[in-house]
Amino acid sequence: NARTLFTVIPSVPQGPTTKNNASQQRLLIKGGRVVNDDASTLADVYIEDGIIKQLGLNLVVPNGTKTIDATGKLVMPGGIDTHTHFELPFMGTRSVDDFLTGTQAAVAGGTTTILDFVIPSKEQSLLEAYVQWRERADAKVCCDYGLHAAITTWNEQVAKDMEVLTKEKGINSFKVFMAYKGVFMLQDDEIFQVFAKCRELGGIAMVHAENGSVITELEKEMAQLGITGPEGHLLSRPEQLEAEATNRAITIAEQTRCPLYVVHVMSKTAADKVTAARLKGQVVFGEPIAASLGTDGSQYFNRCWRHAAAHVMSPPLRDDAATGPYLMDLLANGSLSATGTDHCTFNANQKALGKDDFRKIPNGVNGVEDRLAVIWTKGVETGKLDANQFVAVTSANAARIFNIYPRKGRIAVGSDGDCIIWDREAKKTISASTHHQACDFNIFEGMECRGLPVVTVVAGKVVYENGQLNTVQGSGKYLETTCFAEYVYQKLYKREELRDQHYKERKIEREPYTGEVVDITKPF
Ligand code: URP
Ligand code: ZN
Ligand code: ZN
Ligand code: ZN
Repeated sequence: NARTLFTVIPSVPQGPTTKNNASQQRLLIKGGRVVNDDASTLADVYIEDGIIKQLGLNLVVPNGTKTIDATGKLVMPGGIDTHTHFELPFMGTRSVDDFLTGTQAAVAGGTTTILDFVIPSKEQSLLEAYVQWRERADAKVCCDYGLHAAITTWNEQVAKDMEVLTKEKGINSFKVFMAYKGVFMLQDDEIFQVFAKCRELGGIAMVHAENGSVITELEKEMAQLGITGPEGHLLSRPEQLEAEATNRAITIAEQTRCPLYVVHVMSKTAADKVTAARLKGQVVFGEPIAASLGTDGSQYFNRCWRHAAAHVMSPPLRDDAATGPYLMDLLANGSLSATGTDHCTFNANQKALGKDDFRKIPNGVNGVEDRLAVIWTKGVETGKLDANQFVAVTSANAARIFNIYPRKGRIAVGSDGDCIIWDREAKKTISASTHHQACDFNIFEGMECRGLPVVTVVAGKVVYENGQLNTVQGSGKYLETTCFAEYVYQKLYKREELRDQHYKERKIEREPYTGEVVDITKPF
């Protein structure tokens, strides 16, 4: 039972010198409806020293406690964005949202935990890259964050580094790339070995699923056809290549008995592969992102180059406009599990590196601020998701998969005081001119959202209220994620045991062959 695994962090005693501070570290959220993924209840939430200490009605709290009225509103766990790339050096430049603006934008949109990717450069070891990511992030984050690590080359040293990351550095998830040939892409045998190592360590394998070799060939065909604009990005990365790679990754994961998390599911047919594997009981999770749920690939055909280029990401958005609603349905029925954003933003002058050749447009879009509002608008307001399912797909499921539940992803006594007050009636029109993201474009520009976070609380402190940010740079903490998450591994043990047993039963005991063997050292 996940609850018993969870230790409540004792509160720090308040000395006389911190007395003034103490009242600020106590927060009562009163009158709201607390929504978890499994149930909702009318309850007040009392947070002290960053931890939820009491939950219920008629709570007795110390004098001087700051109180927020949440009457008529929902109180939900803060969002967990499973997939960001803040200040990532990529395609010759660096993504513009750093760990400061990125986490500020996150909390402004109701997300209170982000999971970013350590991606080593060519000259760097995995451990060096990890240290660099910690240095960048620790100094800037305004909310808690965790890390995944990308495996972009494969050798003995990388295997050892994976071991250190899992055992000493709090990383339990490893992403491989089946695309970006010549840069990050691994071959099937290497992916097999990464997954096998990951399974041995009790981690979760993650995959960027697209057939990178075929993409490279199709890109050449686009050049021959004289297609150099952003539409070439979509045309050279057809949906079949995402579905094929997704299926291949699922197959390799099955053979290595490794749990698999498919990042940025962008198409119906790729999602179908995840669904089919889950129907057979395989431990596979799929992650659609704000972009694939909220917009579509028709944008690549926009006559404005900058507009089209702003949407370039991999795998691309699909020009089938039914994709987003389809992915939302799969989130609702549990075929897809968690949502991220792949937030990796580049300004117009950076996207312009590819003005004459779409292959050079830095890949990435925004979403860390927009995800919750987009999912509420496209999911809850359409009747596809209820509020509990909204919590499941925006925080609770991610917390379970990456083993930070119920510390994160739940409003409960002992959980971290990260929550949002949600107003179902609040409206806004998304725009780059008003967002907190550092980028000069928003792929959801003009989208009218209904349902918004009006207050965001991080570790018991109000960091966003009435449209105003009140964050402290560097106040967020690094979240260690430990291996062998029960939610992920419980079923795997049994499946593995049964498989081994099945193999042993099929072994045939034979008399050794004693006849002649052809001599192949002689010419035929
Ligand atoms: O286009 C994307 N997705 N950029 C970020 C890197 C990745 O593949 O996740
Ligand atoms: Zn990717
Ligand atoms: Zn435009
Ligand atoms: Zn990504």
